[in-house]
Amino acid sequence: MSLISDYKRQFLWRDWPAAFEALPSLKGQSVLDLGCGVGDLAADFVTRGADVIGVDLIEEFVREARSRCLSRAKFELADLRALPEFGTAVDGVWSSFTAAYFPDLPTVISEWTRQLKPGGWMALVEIDDLFGHEPLSDGTRTLLERYAGDSLAAGRYDFHMGRKLKGHLQQAGFKVTREFTLVDLELSFDGVASPEVVDAWRNRFKRMTLLREFCGRRIDEIENEFLNCLMRADHRARAKVNCCIGTHPPEMV
Ligand SMILES: C[S@@+](CC[C@H](N)C(=O)[O-])C[C@H]1O[C@@H](n2cnc3c(N)ncnc32)[C@H](O)[C@@H]1O
Repeated sequence: MSLISDYKRQFLWRDWPAAFEALPSLKGQSVLDLGCGVGDLAADFVTRGADVIGVDLIEEFVREARSRCLSRAKFELADLRALPEFGTAVDGVWSSFTAAYFPDLPTVISEWTRQLKPGGWMALVEIDDLFGHEPLSDGTRTLLERYAGDSLAAGRYDFHMGRKLKGHLQQAGFKVTREFTLVDLELSFDGVASPEVVDAWRNRFKRMTLLREFCGRRIDEIENEFLNCLMRADHRARAKVNCCIGTHPPEMV
């Protein structure tokens, strides 16, 4: 299964309606979808009456998103660290499962905030503790925690970004209006995973080349133990999908 098909399948396992309900009414709003992937969220924003600009760094995703031919959405290829001018400020910035790629998130949020109208909103959704599933042996848990530490130290990815969203938004000058967790059938659930969810996790392990290098000869053992953990009746997730929404106060003059 391709990464694009994996992304489309994952979309169904997230509780997006709960996140959308917490947003201001989207009718007539302009929304920047940062790290838009293949445009699944943008399509939902359009259905709810918004005009959307989706931005992503991967050309294949932008091409796929454009192929949806959504009447009120356009998709741009750009790095979220250096956004181009889009010609008009937007009512809201949405970014799901992308914040963790920026361990220095407050700096990046400042860049994103330049695109917002005064009083605009920003909504961030991110996983906290992706590998936080039990029961795992001490050896496997420790190795996965060391990998998370290595990713953070290298500035690649913050595996604990979910819990930091509120503090980062506040640091960037936002007034946080909502903070909650989202149900997620793939990332944050208890009990036995469905075969499709196990398959998605298997694909994720295949894609994580840096994790594979980090684990070396132990990777098959780690992957098998993790997948077996997801299939156990006593499986419990510590991982959480966090959503945090803030508004940017108009500058005082
Ligand atoms: C895990 S996907 C999330 C996709 C979608 N937002 C969702 O919730 O399903 C993360 C996305 O962020 C994009 N991304 C990561 N770093 C980026 C950067 N520096 N500039 C632009 N896009 C980036 C990736 O290409 C990918 O499409």
